[in-house]
Amino acid sequence: MKQESTQNMHVNTVELSVNMSRQLSMMSFSGAKRKTYISQTVLPTCLSTLAITAVLNARKSGRAHKSDWCGNWSPEVARNLILRYSKEKDHLLDCMIGGGTTAIEAKILNRHITCIDVNDEALERTKKSLEFEVDNKAKQRIAKCDARDMSFIKDNEIDFVLTHPPYADIIKYSEGKIKEDLSGIHDIDAFVDEIEKVAKELFRVLKKGKYCAILMGDTRRNKMYQPLAFKVMQKFLDSGFVLKEDIIKRQFNCKATGFWVTKSKESNFLLIMHEHLFIFQKGV
Ligand SMILES: C[S@@+](CC[C@H](N)C(=O)[O-])C[C@H]1O[C@@H](n2cnc3c(N)ncnc32)[C@H](O)[C@@H]1O
Repeated sequence: MKQESTQNMHVNTVELSVNMSRQLSMMSFSGAKRKTYISQTVLPTCLSTLAITAVLNARKSGRAHKSDWCGNWSPEVARNLILRYSKEKDHLLDCMIGGGTTAIEAKILNRHITCIDVNDEALERTKKSLEFEVDNKAKQRIAKCDARDMSFIKDNEIDFVLTHPPYADIIKYSEGKIKEDLSGIHDIDAFVDEIEKVAKELFRVLKKGKYCAILMGDTRRNKMYQPLAFKVMQKFLDSGFVLKEDIIKRQFNCKATGFWVTKSKESNFLLIMHEHLFIFQKGV
């Protein structure tokens, strides 16, 4: 019972933190609300005044995230992870950068970042998304590379990994055109076997004692629930990581929601409304 309430407290803390960042994003558009948010929600949590200023400056300069890369994660998730698990001038890695959400947040928050993807279009979007000025010297390294072999990154080079892999082939990012694209793999066990290779690489490049955050969802096959996220989690544990947190993230509408609503009514199953945000640590 006691353990349950402690866990709830953690989930609430994260939700509060995500809500807080959403409010923070609104601050640049709503001067009237600014005072309330700063005094009641923003300052007492993990955001420093410096971080608030950096975010506001970037927003003022017209920088805004685009949500047209299919399956992008929300800037609030990336921002909160960066603030909680890294410090300014740290070197971050997102090995599946997609449309560049993580890169934008890292730049705003004065962290260096290596951005990797197998898809040229993703890398182009990432480069474009970084065309804004900030008042810091954070560097961005962008490379076309398969996350299963990141040999250009040295052992123990990275301070914090945060990434959002495909959920098997739920969204096919390259429609089968790029053979290294893991979103081309339908079979769940074959997919998690490939993810294990990514996990091993992430373990190699991360410094000891540092953290690795992975957002992963589940799916259904033949009407039955497939615990994809737990299978991925197990591969990270098998690769040497220990699990610090399993944060439940509420999932909102995505491209496939309409399809699943119809299916769930036809076949009488529940919609999947959550994803897992795993925080692993490379033990000391
Ligand atoms: C869920 S998306 C990432 C979205 C990103 N977080 C954003 O906000 O835009 C997954 C990405 O993984 C990339 N990917 C798939 N297989 C990969 C591999 N073997 N190595 C590196 N990237 C890969 C895809 O091209 C896609 O851009």
